[in-house]
Amino acid sequence: MPSDSHQIEGNHDLIQKIVSEISQKGLMSFARFMEMALYDVPYGYYMTQAVESEQPSHDRIGWGGDFFTAPELSPILAKTLVRQILDIDVRLGHPDPFTFMEIGAGNGTFAVDFLQECRAIASDFFNRLSYDIVERSPYLQLRQAARLREAVGNRVEGHLRWRSSLEEVDSNSLTGVVFSNELVDALPVHRVRWENNQLREIFVAYEGGHFVECLDHCSSPKLAEYVDTYHVSLSEGQTSELHLEAEAWMNNVARILHRGVVMTIDYGHTGSDYYRSDRKDGTFLCYYRHAISTNPYILVGEQDMTAHVNFSALAGSGTTSGLDLIGFTTLANWLIGLGVEELVKDQDQESEDVKALTHLLRPHGMGKTFKVLVQQKGMEPFTLQGLRYPAFFDDVVSSRRD
Ligand SMILES: C[S@@+](CC[C@H](N)C(=O)[O-])C[C@H]1O[C@@H](n2cnc3c(N)ncnc32)[C@H](O)[C@@H]1O
Repeated sequence: MPSDSHQIEGNHDLIQKIVSEISQKGLMSFARFMEMALYDVPYGYYMTQAVESEQPSHDRIGWGGDFFTAPELSPILAKTLVRQILDIDVRLGHPDPFTFMEIGAGNGTFAVDFLQECRAIASDFFNRLSYDIVERSPYLQLRQAARLREAVGNRVEGHLRWRSSLEEVDSNSLTGVVFSNELVDALPVHRVRWENNQLREIFVAYEGGHFVECLDHCSSPKLAEYVDTYHVSLSEGQTSELHLEAEAWMNNVARILHRGVVMTIDYGHTGSDYYRSDRKDGTFLCYYRHAISTNPYILVGEQDMTAHVNFSALAGSGTTSGLDLIGFTTLANWLIGLGVEELVKDQDQESEDVKALTHLLRPHGMGKTFKVLVQQKGMEPFTLQGLRYPAFFDDVVSSRRD
């Protein structure tokens, strides 16, 4: 039964493409709708520049765009991370090359700050560094290359490499670090509802010129497996998200890593917090020019869509595919553990860096909702300075899947 109907607005060509797929194949899973809205070639949100721009170069990410991320706020994340990476380099025995892989690099801002900091404080490491970007969007790949060339200069080009997908990377080929910031929250999610004691999936139909949502049996047995494996418990009428793409992504990361560390930064929760009964409608949100909405059927292809990360499931799928959990904490504790206050102690308290840091550490904002998950493969057990202050959660991510 159709449950809700929505006004269509957004990228006309993309909407036509979605409507055509629905008319050929029938009901579309919400995950497929999100996939097309964000990553359709050539019309998806991340695949194009914004069209309805008041500014000549309207970015998707950043203050002039729809949402900002920690690297867009300040170079502090990259600067502190370099110090942590140098420690990992020692533990790995100074490999040549040391690969730092960034997955989902957005505007390339983190890459610029990271490379500049490496060059400034660790020239030996910089000379051995291969900065590998995995970026799904060809449009953003071009932007990243232009940004890097402009900010870091041609000298850095020998250190850079782009790929479009992790599938292009050989198994057990990477020694170094796999890093992502706000990538996992941008992966398509399946939306489900617990109704009449059954797991139902949200699908998208097209009726009378509108996208409408309807509930039906799950499109894949993997959804019920996810619920079982990660102990997802929903109350009657509760809607939430299941993250099959994130699980597959983590398996792929484990596959390519030979020896090294995986650092995943994103906003999200542990499993029991994620599916708490008072989160009745899940965590799915859309962003357009810094305004938040829960309606994915407006501004299709022109607004970002995102869901919080289930870190327990992410850690669990990593463990199943051969990664060891090193630790999990909040972004605020991570930055404090890395001595971030040292980096800004001589600066004017009104400076942009200090203001940005206040934002990143905010206990009711990014500092707490953002988490850092760290896993390793092929190394002796160790801990990291950034994990000195673990998070005090009701439940922590577990190194076991069940
Ligand atoms: C929310 S943005 C975050 C950008 C950047 N990390 C930052 O913090 O500003 C998500 C980025 O991930 C990219 N992306 C999404 N799915 C991807 C995938 N499966 N593989 C590689 N990149 C992907 C998007 O194109 C975009 O660059």
